[in-house]
Amino acid sequence: MKLGIVGSGIIVKDFLSIAHHLKHTTILSLCSTKRSEEDARALAKEYLIGQIFTDFEDFLKSEADTVYLGLPNHLHFSYAYQALLAGKNVIVEKPFTPTIEQATVLSRTARENHLFLFEAVTTLYQPDYRRVKELIPSLGSIKLVRCSYSQYSRRYDRFKNGEVLPAFDPGCAGGALMDINIYNLHYAAGLFGTPESVHYFANMERGIDTSGVLLLDYGSFLCTLTGAKDCSAPDSCIIQGDKGYLIQDSPANICEGGRVILNDGSEETVGSHSCSHRMISEFLEFENMILTGDLTNCYRYLDHTLCVCEILTQARRMAGIVFPADGQEVQ
Ligand SMILES: NC(=O)c1ccc[n+]([C@@H]2O[C@H](COP(=O)([O-])OP(=O)(O)OC[C@H]3O[C@@H](n4cnc5c(N)ncnc54)[C@H](OP(=O)(O)O)[C@@H]3O)[C@@H](O)[C@H]2O)c1
Repeated sequence: MKLGIVGSGIIVKDFLSIAHHLKHTTILSLCSTKRSEEDARALAKEYLIGQIFTDFEDFLKSEADTVYLGLPNHLHFSYAYQALLAGKNVIVEKPFTPTIEQATVLSRTARENHLFLFEAVTTLYQPDYRRVKELIPSLGSIKLVRCSYSQYSRRYDRFKNGEVLPAFDPGCAGGALMDINIYNLHYAAGLFGTPESVHYFANMERGIDTSGVLLLDYGSFLCTLTGAKDCSAPDSCIIQGDKGYLIQDSPANICEGGRVILNDGSEETVGSHSCSHRMISEFLEFENMILTGDLTNCYRYLDHTLCVCEILTQARRMAGIVFPADGQEVQ
Protein backbone atom coordinates (compact mmCIF):
# COMPACT_ATOMS: atom_id res chain seq x y z
CA MET A 1 0.00 0.00 0.00
CA LYS A 2 1.04 3.55 -0.60
CA LEU A 3 -0.73 5.03 2.41
CA GLY A 4 -1.87 8.57 3.17
CA ILE A 5 -3.19 9.34 6.66
CA VAL A 6 -5.75 11.97 7.64
CA GLY A 7 -5.72 13.20 11.25
CA SER A 8 -2.98 13.46 13.86
CA GLY A 9 -4.90 12.51 17.02
CA ILE A 10 -4.89 9.54 19.41
CA ILE A 11 -5.78 6.78 16.96
CA VAL A 12 -3.35 7.94 14.27
CA LYS A 13 -0.53 7.95 16.83
CA ASP A 14 -1.61 4.45 17.90
CA PHE A 15 -1.56 3.29 14.30
CA LEU A 16 1.85 4.82 13.60
CA SER A 17 3.29 2.92 16.56
CA ILE A 18 2.41 -0.41 14.87
CA ALA A 19 2.84 0.57 11.21
CA HIS A 20 6.28 -1.11 11.03
CA HIS A 21 4.43 -4.46 11.10
CA LEU A 22 3.12 -3.69 7.59
CA LYS A 23 6.00 -4.90 5.47
CA HIS A 24 4.41 -3.99 2.13
CA THR A 25 3.26 -0.49 3.07
CA THR A 26 4.90 2.90 2.74
CA ILE A 27 3.39 5.85 4.52
CA LEU A 28 3.69 8.67 2.02
CA SER A 29 1.72 11.53 3.53
CA LEU A 30 -0.13 12.95 6.52
CA CYS A 31 -2.96 15.48 6.33
CA SER A 32 -3.72 17.51 9.46
CA THR A 33 -5.62 20.66 10.33
CA LYS A 34 -3.67 23.91 10.18
CA ARG A 35 -3.84 24.15 13.97
CA SER A 36 -2.15 20.76 14.34
CA GLU A 37 0.48 21.23 11.64
CA GLU A 38 3.34 21.33 14.12
CA ASP A 39 2.17 18.11 15.73
CA ALA A 40 1.90 16.53 12.27
CA ARG A 41 5.45 17.65 11.40
CA ALA A 42 6.75 16.05 14.58
CA LEU A 43 4.99 12.78 13.67
CA ALA A 44 6.33 12.97 10.12
CA LYS A 45 9.85 13.37 11.46
CA GLU A 46 9.51 10.49 13.90
CA TYR A 47 7.98 8.09 11.36
CA LEU A 48 9.81 9.29 8.23
CA ILE A 49 6.68 10.46 6.42
CA GLY A 50 7.65 12.51 3.36
CA GLN A 51 4.73 14.87 2.82
CA ILE A 52 2.55 16.97 5.12
CA PHE A 53 -0.69 18.56 3.92
CA THR A 54 -3.15 20.85 5.64
CA ASP A 55 -5.49 20.90 2.64
CA PHE A 56 -7.45 17.72 1.97
CA GLU A 57 -7.92 18.45 -1.76
CA ASP A 58 -4.15 18.80 -2.23
CA PHE A 59 -3.64 15.65 -0.17
CA LEU A 60 -5.98 13.75 -2.50
CA LYS A 61 -3.86 14.74 -5.49
CA SER A 62 -0.84 13.01 -3.92
CA GLU A 63 0.39 9.57 -4.93
CA ALA A 64 -1.19 7.56 -2.10
CA ASP A 65 -3.38 4.70 -3.34
CA THR A 66 -5.01 4.15 0.07
CA VAL A 67 -6.26 6.67 2.61
CA TYR A 68 -6.65 6.02 6.36
CA LEU A 69 -9.14 8.35 8.06
CA GLY A 70 -8.58 8.95 11.79
CA LEU A 71 -11.07 11.77 12.08
CA PRO A 72 -14.01 12.62 14.37
CA ASN A 73 -17.07 10.53 13.50
CA HIS A 74 -19.10 13.27 11.81
CA LEU A 75 -16.36 13.79 9.19
CA HIS A 76 -16.05 10.14 8.15
CA PHE A 77 -18.64 10.26 5.39
CA SER A 78 -17.59 13.39 3.52
CA TYR A 79 -13.86 12.60 3.67
CA ALA A 80 -14.35 8.97 2.65
CA TYR A 81 -16.69 9.97 -0.18
CA GLN A 82 -14.24 12.51 -1.59
CA ALA A 83 -11.38 10.02 -1.31
CA LEU A 84 -13.35 7.34 -3.18
CA LEU A 85 -14.26 9.83 -5.90
CA ALA A 86 -10.53 10.61 -6.20
CA GLY A 87 -9.91 6.90 -6.87
CA LYS A 88 -8.40 5.99 -3.49
CA ASN A 89 -9.00 2.89 -1.40
CA VAL A 90 -10.30 3.99 2.00
CA ILE A 91 -9.88 2.70 5.55
CA VAL A 92 -12.33 4.54 7.85
CA GLU A 93 -12.02 4.39 11.61
CA LYS A 94 -15.02 3.03 13.50
CA PRO A 95 -17.88 4.01 13.64
CA PHE A 96 -18.06 3.84 9.84
CA THR A 97 -20.65 6.62 9.34
CA PRO A 98 -23.28 8.29 11.56
CA THR A 99 -26.19 6.96 9.44
CA ILE A 100 -27.05 3.92 7.34
CA GLU A 101 -27.95 6.23 4.45
CA GLN A 102 -24.38 7.55 4.31
CA ALA A 103 -22.93 4.05 4.69
CA THR A 104 -24.99 2.85 1.74
CA VAL A 105 -23.68 5.66 -0.49
CA LEU A 106 -20.06 4.90 0.41
CA SER A 107 -20.54 1.19 -0.15
CA ARG A 108 -22.16 1.78 -3.56
CA THR A 109 -19.43 4.22 -4.62
CA ALA A 110 -16.64 1.80 -3.65
CA ARG A 111 -18.26 -1.12 -5.47
CA GLU A 112 -19.03 0.88 -8.61
CA ASN A 113 -15.38 1.95 -8.78
CA HIS A 114 -13.85 -1.40 -7.72
CA LEU A 115 -12.17 0.23 -4.73
CA PHE A 116 -11.39 -1.19 -1.30
CA LEU A 117 -13.38 0.28 1.57
CA PHE A 118 -12.94 -0.89 5.17
CA GLU A 119 -14.23 0.04 8.58
CA ALA A 120 -11.26 -0.22 10.95
CA VAL A 121 -12.87 -2.12 13.81
CA THR A 122 -10.40 -4.37 15.59
CA THR A 123 -12.93 -6.96 16.87
CA LEU A 124 -13.53 -8.77 13.58
CA TYR A 125 -9.86 -9.42 12.87
CA GLN A 126 -8.69 -10.79 16.22
CA PRO A 127 -7.52 -14.43 15.99
CA ASP A 128 -9.39 -15.44 19.15
CA TYR A 129 -12.64 -13.92 17.80
CA ARG A 130 -12.33 -16.28 14.83
CA ARG A 131 -11.86 -19.17 17.27
CA VAL A 132 -15.04 -18.10 19.11
CA LYS A 133 -16.93 -18.46 15.82
CA GLU A 134 -15.65 -22.02 15.42
CA LEU A 135 -16.56 -22.96 19.01
CA ILE A 136 -20.15 -21.71 18.98
CA PRO A 137 -21.72 -24.97 17.65
CA SER A 138 -20.36 -26.82 20.72
CA LEU A 139 -22.58 -24.63 22.95
CA GLY A 140 -25.81 -26.14 21.56
CA SER A 141 -28.81 -23.88 21.01
CA ILE A 142 -27.85 -20.32 21.86
CA LYS A 143 -30.08 -18.75 24.53
CA LEU A 144 -28.37 -15.60 25.79
CA VAL A 145 -25.43 -13.40 24.77
CA ARG A 146 -24.06 -10.70 27.07
CA CYS A 147 -21.27 -8.29 26.21
CA SER A 148 -20.17 -5.52 28.50
CA TYR A 149 -17.64 -2.80 27.73
CA SER A 150 -17.38 0.15 30.11
CA GLN A 151 -14.63 2.70 30.30
CA TYR A 152 -14.95 5.72 32.55
CA SER A 153 -13.83 8.53 30.29
CA ARG A 154 -11.77 11.46 31.51
CA ARG A 155 -13.67 13.37 28.86
CA TYR A 156 -16.82 12.64 30.90
CA ASP A 157 -15.40 14.71 33.80
CA ARG A 158 -14.97 17.58 31.35
CA PHE A 159 -18.48 16.95 29.97
CA LYS A 160 -19.91 17.21 33.50
CA ASN A 161 -18.09 20.52 33.83
CA GLY A 162 -19.84 21.85 30.75
CA GLU A 163 -17.15 21.19 28.09
CA VAL A 164 -18.42 19.07 25.20
CA LEU A 165 -15.68 17.14 23.39
CA PRO A 166 -16.49 15.18 20.18
CA ALA A 167 -16.93 11.87 22.04
CA PHE A 168 -19.93 13.36 23.92
CA ASP A 169 -21.17 15.70 21.20
CA PRO A 170 -24.28 14.77 19.19
CA GLY A 171 -23.05 17.34 16.64
CA CYS A 172 -19.97 15.12 16.11
CA ALA A 173 -21.96 11.85 16.12
CA GLY A 174 -20.53 10.87 19.52
CA GLY A 175 -22.00 8.95 22.46
CA ALA A 176 -21.54 5.60 24.17
CA LEU A 177 -23.30 3.58 21.45
CA MET A 178 -21.12 4.94 18.64
CA ASP A 179 -17.91 5.03 20.63
CA ILE A 180 -17.82 1.90 22.79
CA ASN A 181 -20.95 -0.27 22.53
CA ILE A 182 -20.23 -0.50 18.80
CA TYR A 183 -17.52 -3.09 19.59
CA ASN A 184 -20.08 -5.30 21.37
CA LEU A 185 -22.39 -4.85 18.40
CA HIS A 186 -19.70 -5.88 15.91
CA TYR A 187 -18.96 -8.89 18.12
CA ALA A 188 -22.60 -10.05 18.19
CA ALA A 189 -23.56 -9.17 14.61
CA GLY A 190 -20.33 -10.76 13.33
CA LEU A 191 -21.38 -14.04 14.96
CA PHE A 192 -25.15 -13.99 14.47
CA GLY A 193 -25.95 -11.49 11.69
CA THR A 194 -29.02 -9.27 11.53
CA PRO A 195 -31.43 -9.54 14.50
CA GLU A 196 -35.22 -9.60 14.17
CA SER A 197 -35.55 -6.46 16.27
CA VAL A 198 -33.44 -3.85 18.04
CA HIS A 199 -34.07 -1.78 21.21
CA TYR A 200 -31.77 0.75 22.82
CA PHE A 201 -32.24 1.97 26.40
CA ALA A 202 -29.88 4.86 27.10
CA ASN A 203 -28.79 7.02 30.01
CA MET A 204 -29.10 10.41 28.35
CA GLU A 205 -27.44 13.66 29.37
CA ARG A 206 -27.78 16.81 27.29
CA GLY A 207 -28.94 14.94 24.17
CA ILE A 208 -26.28 12.22 24.17
CA ASP A 209 -26.08 8.68 25.57
CA THR A 210 -23.32 8.48 28.17
CA SER A 211 -24.11 4.77 28.67
CA GLY A 212 -26.77 2.33 27.55
CA VAL A 213 -28.03 -1.18 26.93
CA LEU A 214 -28.64 -2.41 23.39
CA LEU A 215 -30.99 -5.37 23.11
CA LEU A 216 -30.90 -7.51 19.98
CA ASP A 217 -33.74 -10.00 19.62
CA TYR A 218 -32.82 -12.92 17.36
CA GLY A 219 -36.18 -14.67 17.79
CA SER A 220 -34.79 -17.80 19.48
CA PHE A 221 -32.29 -15.94 21.69
CA LEU A 222 -31.46 -12.49 23.07
CA CYS A 223 -28.28 -10.39 23.16
CA THR A 224 -27.78 -7.64 25.72
CA LEU A 225 -24.91 -5.32 24.92
CA THR A 226 -23.85 -2.81 27.56
CA GLY A 227 -21.57 0.13 26.83
CA ALA A 228 -20.61 2.95 29.19
CA LYS A 229 -18.40 6.01 29.18
CA ASP A 230 -19.75 7.37 32.49
CA CYS A 231 -18.91 4.44 34.79
CA SER A 232 -16.65 1.41 34.76
CA ALA A 233 -16.82 -2.32 35.45
CA PRO A 234 -14.97 -5.46 34.35
CA ASP A 235 -15.45 -6.16 30.63
CA SER A 236 -16.58 -9.50 29.25
CA CYS A 237 -18.36 -11.33 26.46
CA ILE A 238 -20.45 -14.38 27.39
CA ILE A 239 -22.36 -16.68 25.06
CA GLN A 240 -24.76 -19.12 26.74
CA GLY A 241 -26.17 -22.19 25.03
CA ASP A 242 -28.15 -25.20 26.29
CA LYS A 243 -24.95 -27.34 26.22
CA GLY A 244 -22.59 -24.87 27.87
CA TYR A 245 -21.17 -21.36 27.79
CA LEU A 246 -18.20 -19.43 26.44
CA ILE A 247 -16.66 -16.58 28.38
CA GLN A 248 -14.05 -14.02 27.35
CA ASP A 249 -12.87 -11.74 30.15
CA SER A 250 -11.74 -9.02 27.79
CA PRO A 251 -13.49 -6.15 26.03
CA ALA A 252 -14.96 -6.80 22.59
CA ASN A 253 -12.33 -4.66 20.85
CA ILE A 254 -9.62 -7.09 21.97
CA CYS A 255 -11.43 -10.48 22.29
CA GLU A 256 -8.45 -12.15 23.84
CA GLY A 257 -8.49 -15.65 25.32
CA GLY A 258 -11.46 -17.18 27.14
CA ARG A 259 -12.93 -20.56 28.01
CA VAL A 260 -15.70 -22.87 26.89
CA ILE A 261 -17.30 -24.70 29.80
CA LEU A 262 -19.76 -27.43 28.86
CA ASN A 263 -22.55 -28.84 31.04
CA ASP A 264 -20.66 -32.15 31.34
CA GLY A 265 -17.85 -30.30 33.15
CA SER A 266 -15.36 -30.35 30.26
CA GLU A 267 -13.42 -27.20 29.59
CA GLU A 268 -11.50 -25.83 26.61
CA THR A 269 -9.49 -22.62 26.22
CA VAL A 270 -10.58 -20.33 23.39
CA GLY A 271 -7.10 -19.35 22.28
CA SER A 272 -3.70 -18.40 23.42
CA HIS A 273 -3.01 -15.44 21.23
CA SER A 274 -1.61 -12.65 23.27
CA CYS A 275 -2.57 -9.47 21.54
CA SER A 276 0.59 -7.35 21.46
CA HIS A 277 -1.42 -4.48 20.00
CA ARG A 278 -5.09 -4.62 19.08
CA MET A 279 -4.61 -2.87 15.71
CA ILE A 280 -2.00 -5.18 14.17
CA SER A 281 -4.33 -7.96 12.94
CA GLU A 282 -6.79 -5.65 11.22
CA PHE A 283 -4.16 -3.67 9.33
CA LEU A 284 -2.26 -6.81 8.27
CA GLU A 285 -5.50 -8.08 6.80
CA PHE A 286 -6.32 -4.78 5.04
CA GLU A 287 -2.81 -4.79 3.56
CA ASN A 288 -3.15 -8.39 2.42
CA MET A 289 -6.58 -7.90 0.81
CA ILE A 290 -5.36 -4.85 -1.08
CA LEU A 291 -2.12 -6.52 -2.18
CA THR A 292 -3.90 -9.63 -3.44
CA GLY A 293 -6.79 -7.66 -4.99
CA ASP A 294 -9.29 -9.55 -2.81
CA LEU A 295 -12.33 -7.32 -3.30
CA THR A 296 -14.69 -10.23 -2.58
CA ASN A 297 -13.48 -10.53 1.00
CA CYS A 298 -13.42 -6.75 1.41
CA TYR A 299 -17.07 -6.48 0.32
CA ARG A 300 -18.01 -9.35 2.66
CA TYR A 301 -16.68 -7.21 5.53
CA LEU A 302 -18.45 -4.21 4.03
CA ASP A 303 -21.79 -6.07 4.06
CA HIS A 304 -21.21 -6.71 7.76
CA THR A 305 -20.45 -3.01 8.31
CA LEU A 306 -23.74 -2.10 6.60
CA CYS A 307 -25.59 -4.50 8.91
CA VAL A 308 -24.00 -2.81 11.95
CA CYS A 309 -24.75 0.70 10.61
CA GLU A 310 -28.39 -0.24 10.09
CA ILE A 311 -28.67 -1.46 13.71
CA LEU A 312 -26.86 1.60 15.08
CA THR A 313 -29.11 3.97 13.15
CA GLN A 314 -32.31 2.21 14.25
CA ALA A 315 -31.17 2.00 17.88
CA ARG A 316 -30.07 5.60 18.10
CA ARG A 317 -33.20 7.02 16.48
CA MET A 318 -35.31 4.88 18.80
CA ALA A 319 -33.56 6.42 21.81
CA GLY A 320 -34.07 9.96 20.46
CA ILE A 321 -30.37 10.65 19.80
CA VAL A 322 -30.27 13.05 16.87
CA PHE A 323 -27.19 13.70 14.73
CA PRO A 324 -26.89 16.49 12.14
CA ALA A 325 -26.59 13.83 9.41
CA ASP A 326 -30.14 12.65 10.20
CA GLY A 327 -31.58 15.73 8.57
CA GLN A 328 -29.28 15.78 5.56
CA GLU A 329 -29.86 14.33 2.15
CA VAL A 330 -27.10 12.10 0.83
CA GLN A 331 -26.18 11.69 -2.82
N1 LIG B 1 -8.92 6.91 20.52
C1 LIG B 1 -9.11 5.61 20.34
O1 LIG B 1 -8.67 4.72 21.12
C2 LIG B 1 -9.89 5.15 19.17
C3 LIG B 1 -9.97 3.81 19.02
C4 LIG B 1 -10.60 3.36 17.92
C5 LIG B 1 -11.16 4.22 17.04
N2 LIG B 1 -11.13 5.52 17.19
C6 LIG B 1 -11.79 6.38 16.20
O2 LIG B 1 -10.85 7.22 15.58
C7 LIG B 1 -11.46 8.45 15.22
C8 LIG B 1 -10.61 9.57 15.79
O3 LIG B 1 -10.55 9.42 17.18
P1 LIG B 1 -9.33 10.00 18.04
O4 LIG B 1 -9.51 9.46 19.39
O5 LIG B 1 -8.05 9.81 17.33
O6 LIG B 1 -9.74 11.55 18.05
P2 LIG B 1 -8.78 12.81 18.25
O7 LIG B 1 -7.63 12.46 19.12
O8 LIG B 1 -9.67 13.94 18.60
O9 LIG B 1 -8.20 13.04 16.79
C9 LIG B 1 -8.99 13.51 15.73
C10 LIG B 1 -8.04 14.08 14.73
O10 LIG B 1 -8.75 14.54 13.59
C11 LIG B 1 -8.21 15.83 13.24
N3 LIG B 1 -9.10 16.58 12.38
C12 LIG B 1 -10.28 17.15 12.72
N4 LIG B 1 -10.79 17.74 11.62
C13 LIG B 1 -9.90 17.53 10.62
C14 LIG B 1 -9.86 17.90 9.25
N5 LIG B 1 -10.86 18.60 8.72
N6 LIG B 1 -8.78 17.53 8.49
C15 LIG B 1 -7.78 16.82 9.03
N7 LIG B 1 -7.76 16.44 10.33
C16 LIG B 1 -8.82 16.79 11.10
C17 LIG B 1 -7.97 16.48 14.58
O11 LIG B 1 -7.16 17.63 14.43
P3 LIG B 1 -7.28 18.81 15.53
O12 LIG B 1 -6.77 18.20 16.80
O13 LIG B 1 -6.41 19.87 15.00
O14 LIG B 1 -8.74 19.16 15.59
C18 LIG B 1 -7.29 15.31 15.28
O15 LIG B 1 -5.94 15.19 14.89
C19 LIG B 1 -12.88 8.42 15.79
O16 LIG B 1 -13.78 8.09 14.77
C20 LIG B 1 -12.83 7.30 16.83
O17 LIG B 1 -14.07 6.63 16.99
C21 LIG B 1 -10.47 6.03 18.24
